[in-house]
Amino acid sequence: MTVSSAPGKVYLFGEHAVVYGEPAVPCAIERRATVTVEAREDDHIRVEAQDLSLDGFTVEYADGTDHRPDVDVPAGLVDAAVGYVDAAVEQAREAAGAPSAGFDITVESEIPLGAGLGSSAAVVVAGIDAATRELGEPLDRTELADRAYRAEYDVQEGQASRADTFCSTMGGAVRVEGDDCRRIDAPNLPFVVGFDGGAGDTGELVAGVRQLRDEYDFAADTVENIGDIVRAGESRLAAADPSADPDEELLAELGRLMDFDHGLLEALGVSSRTLDNMVWAAREAGAHGAKLTGAGGGGCIVALDETPETSTALRYTAECHDVFRAELDREGVRAEGATDGAASDKRGTGGEVT
Ligand code: PMV
Repeated sequence: MTVSSAPGKVYLFGEHAVVYGEPAVPCAIERRATVTVEAREDDHIRVEAQDLSLDGFTVEYADGTDHRPDVDVPAGLVDAAVGYVDAAVEQAREAAGAPSAGFDITVESEIPLGAGLGSSAAVVVAGIDAATRELGEPLDRTELADRAYRAEYDVQEGQASRADTFCSTMGGAVRVEGDDCRRIDAPNLPFVVGFDGGAGDTGELVAGVRQLRDEYDFAADTVENIGDIVRAGESRLAAADPSADPDEELLAELGRLMDFDHGLLEALGVSSRTLDNMVWAAREAGAHGAKLTGAGGGGCIVALDETPETSTALRYTAECHDVFRAELDREGVRAEGATDGAASDKRGTGGEVT
């Protein structure tokens, strides 16, 4: 039995624009998906999902059989969850040269599904890591990030950037521009996350922005303007001391840029009433800045506030279903438990994929 976990993320800046080659800066957060994998004698896959914003389900299948579990959970979410696990299994089988390896897989996640916190990337990264280690073929982080990206790309029919999977694999703050992915230095920013209890459809939202961009020059300009905001934010981060607490001036400037970014995402039609209400509740509570994170449409916002004010305000906001502070997770994917810890220690820390 092999267990791996990988973190979710928030976008400090740059979602959606990253799909068109602009840079983005996602940051891994200490909320994890944990995947337990045990090799089977046959080629079946049995998936047990304990907490993917679902009530929990178990599904067993082999090639050609139905993936549908016999419990009453929304089919779309189950298909999505099983689709990502399936894609992770395919990548692990291919990487290990074991095309018919079967597994019992358990997924436990602290990251709400489809809410902009990179839940699917975390499941895919932890799943490939655990399955390849279970087969005795551990991957270095660079290959793991690349395979996780390919898995997401397949499930999302090409509507995926490398941002989520790279960030979840490497941990910390990362910069993604096309195929160029690297870790960047960043201080531990005081993230506060508000969750409206809902989810957005990433594929649909990305397709909507693409259409708008084809139709209106303003939308193409907006995407480029988001890129400018990301570059401004990056240079502020680069000038900061990553080992010190961020000073007020840095937080104020990053917050301002987050506010601009949210406004532009709203112009692209990917915000929602609930996300906007949470963003405004955070700003009025004194947050340095606030924006939606991820694809939008529903799900999460991220604000910067080192005081408890924003969390308190969000807790009293009708649209907010859950609120939590999120520490920057500098570790990325990791082996859990004592069974095979050494394998992960041998992995390169990576840092760049081109
Ligand atoms: O909502 P998430 O965590 O799947 O993030 C989507 C981010 C997008 O930029 C909209 C798409 C992508 O793949 O980068």
